[in-house]
Amino acid sequence: MYARTISIISGKGGVGKTVITANLGIALSKYRRVIVLDADLAMANLSIVLGMKPKVTLHDVLMGSATVEDSIYDAYGVKVVPTGISLDGFEKSKPEDMFKVIREILENCDILLLDAPAGAERTTIIATMTSEDCIIVTNPDVSAITDATKSRIIAERLKTNVRGFILNRYKKEIKIKPDKIEDVLRVPLLGIIPEDPTVSIHQTEPFIVKDPYSPASKAIYNIAKQIIHEEKNWEHSNSLKRIQFALSRRLS
Ligand SMILES: Nc1ncnc2c1ncn2[C@@H]1O[C@H](COP(=O)(O)OP(=O)(O)OP(=O)(O)O)[C@@H](O)[C@H]1O
Ligand SMILES: [Mg+2]
Repeated sequence: MYARTISIISGKGGVGKTVITANLGIALSKYRRVIVLDADLAMANLSIVLGMKPKVTLHDVLMGSATVEDSIYDAYGVKVVPTGISLDGFEKSKPEDMFKVIREILENCDILLLDAPAGAERTTIIATMTSEDCIIVTNPDVSAITDATKSRIIAERLKTNVRGFILNRYKKEIKIKPDKIEDVLRVPLLGIIPEDPTVSIHQTEPFIVKDPYSPASKAIYNIAKQIIHEEKNWEHSNSLKRIQFALSRRLS
């Protein structure tokens, strides 16, 4: 059995991908064996959001100085492959080797969540093309929505199923309504996470742990349930096919 791989992507940076990946990973891990991987090789911060201080990271694996197994940690019940925060580690890593890392991880979990970098950089493309599904995160502002549309188009070109979008940092007084954003993006709305000051205050303790019953946590649990519910429609062998497809189209 190979894991289902889902990348969390966005066009604009800073919309909440890392926070959502961490919290969604924790929620999903209550039901399945989940690994969350920080695919943001240059500006990694998943480990910070999860309050970790890892010694071995994905950078070490990509540099060939550690095994994948050495880089898997446990944080709040979810398995995590963190990436180092040093630029030196980034400069020495080979992004294309992520394909091999992901192939190894696929055999050790049911769901693999990839926290992708924003935009359309090389690592974003690698994360998206190795995933069967992706989820777009956006904020309710025109520039984030415009860039989210570009992410959808890129994912479609890479033949990755755009499962839907999460509207993060939503406030009732905002004029752009969620159904209007759904019309513009042309992908289903999976959930709305409100603007919540406690999200940024508890930087090293995920909000789903701090307050499992807050509106933000309830929205995350609801998205997790949708993901679990879809399982019967996906084939476990597809993940390996995707990675083989990705390897055959390796970027030069
Ligand atoms: N719902 C929310 N309410 C309030 N603050 C939030 C919310 N979601 C995220 N934030 C804050 O927004 C900032 C950016 O979040 P995050 O790092 O997860 O974004 P990102 O999309 O991963 O960014 P990057 O593109 O740089 O990787 C963080 O300070 C985070 O605490
Ligand atoms: Mg991030």
